[in-house]
Amino acid sequence: MAVNINTLRELKQKGEAFAALTSYDATFSQVASEAGVHVILIGDSLGMVLQGHDSTLPVTMDQMVYHVSCVSKGNRGSLIMADMPFMSYGTVDAALENAAELMRAGAHMVKLEGTDWMKETISALSERAVPVCVHLGLTPQFVNKFGGYKVQGRDEKSAEMMIEHACELEAAGADVILLECVPAPLAARIAQAVKAPVIGIGAGADTDGQILVLHDMLGITTGRKPRFVKDFLAETNSVQEAIGAYVKAVGDRTFPAEEHTFKA
Ligand code: KIV
Repeated sequence: MAVNINTLRELKQKGEAFAALTSYDATFSQVASEAGVHVILIGDSLGMVLQGHDSTLPVTMDQMVYHVSCVSKGNRGSLIMADMPFMSYGTVDAALENAAELMRAGAHMVKLEGTDWMKETISALSERAVPVCVHLGLTPQFVNKFGGYKVQGRDEKSAEMMIEHACELEAAGADVILLECVPAPLAARIAQAVKAPVIGIGAGADTDGQILVLHDMLGITTGRKPRFVKDFLAETNSVQEAIGAYVKAVGDRTFPAEEHTFKA
């Protein structure tokens, strides 16, 4: 049966963790959905893992639309989430127009990086039938503002602010929250504070779902391997088995383990 937003809400209510994974083409999308991945993200990480850039900033709307349409053809029942690339939601009008393009290409939900300044945009999208995931914490499109890819929410003030933003953005209409590189205790507090399913990457084991970048979980990370990454192919014999092992490890909460987690 196809996964939709209600499936994720029900899993959260039952305390059952769900697996999300990035994918950028039809074949990996089919393999991922047949392996039981609940959410496939066409991440703007494609700018780094497919195109070789050192950030996600050069990714364009046309490129996102192309990859969403490829993924959508291979999908066999996962929820398809599409990243809105850098500056494609700088104004409410731009967000509506660009989100519509991604939805027409096959997305079921769009993901935006940012904080309380996005409230109006999220309401506008939500009221016009576009489900939204809000990406908080280490938001890679902000790399030049952050001065690098750094764990966020480490001090009490920024932690409290992140909780506040999660609640405000949920109230504005966000259906899902994604937390990247935040200390595990903060991620757990946010997952408890909101009704929306919370997906974590480098956010500890107490979020409602987990996500990894496909290339990272297949052990083909180029450059420095982030702490939260596990190579599932190393313990299995095929891509299919590796993705299956990832789904199982997320489901039984053996991934992420202590060594993949930022404690503070
Ligand atoms: O672009 C992406 O792949 C992402 C994940 C890291 C969550 O946003």
